[in-house]
Amino acid sequence: MRIDIISAVPSLLISPFADSILQRAQNKGLVEVVVHDLRDYTTNKHKKIDDYAFGGGAGMVMTIQPIDACITELKSQRVYDEVIYMTPDGEQLNQQICNKLSSLTNIIVLCGHYKGIDERVREMFITREISIGDYVLSGGELGAAVLADSIIRLIPGVLNDETSALTDSFQDDLLSPPIYTRPADYNGEKVPEILTSGNERAIEEWRMQQAIERTKKRRPDLLD
Ligand code: ADE
Repeated sequence: MRIDIISAVPSLLISPFADSILQRAQNKGLVEVVVHDLRDYTTNKHKKIDDYAFGGGAGMVMTIQPIDACITELKSQRVYDEVIYMTPDGEQLNQQICNKLSSLTNIIVLCGHYKGIDERVREMFITREISIGDYVLSGGELGAAVLADSIIRLIPGVLNDETSALTDSFQDDLLSPPIYTRPADYNGEKVPEILTSGNERAIEEWRMQQAIERTKKRRPDLLD
């Protein structure tokens, strides 16, 4: 899979991909993440990529030209399955969307900044708009990092133990059950006995029951 991220502040997108699982996924050749600096595509001699909003109003608007130039160049090199715009008024990201996106080959992710992008960019280039939650970030970069992380970990081979993505919270519309590790007794705080019983079947049943209980209590909407 290849993920091209277009950004006005590309330095924000260095560290999320430079460590741990996301770095290993790239080193293994399972995903390629390429960050593009929007300023490299502007024809403006001052490298400007934003301008005042027609009709007035507070905040600057990202201009079409550099976004068009960047997307058009990328599209001339390969076919893209989706051109995603990160925006608080997009569809809210969930595990189902992540699962679907993780099976694609090439995606572009455009990060918004300032007040947003010229509406014509959305009409001309964007195939999907995604929000990571009902709150406003300073830009789409952190959202793009969240989106990329949630997709990349689902690509087969990225996680060492393949079942660990399958047992994530939300994969069965259930939250994960509680987990414990050594010591079994920490100053009198004990691990549930069943987990040290060695009875795998009973442990599986306990986990399922705990997952259902936890989901009922914390996220009953998932069970609807
Ligand atoms: N850009 C600003 N806020 C955002 C959000 N909540 N989700 C995605 N992109 C954003």
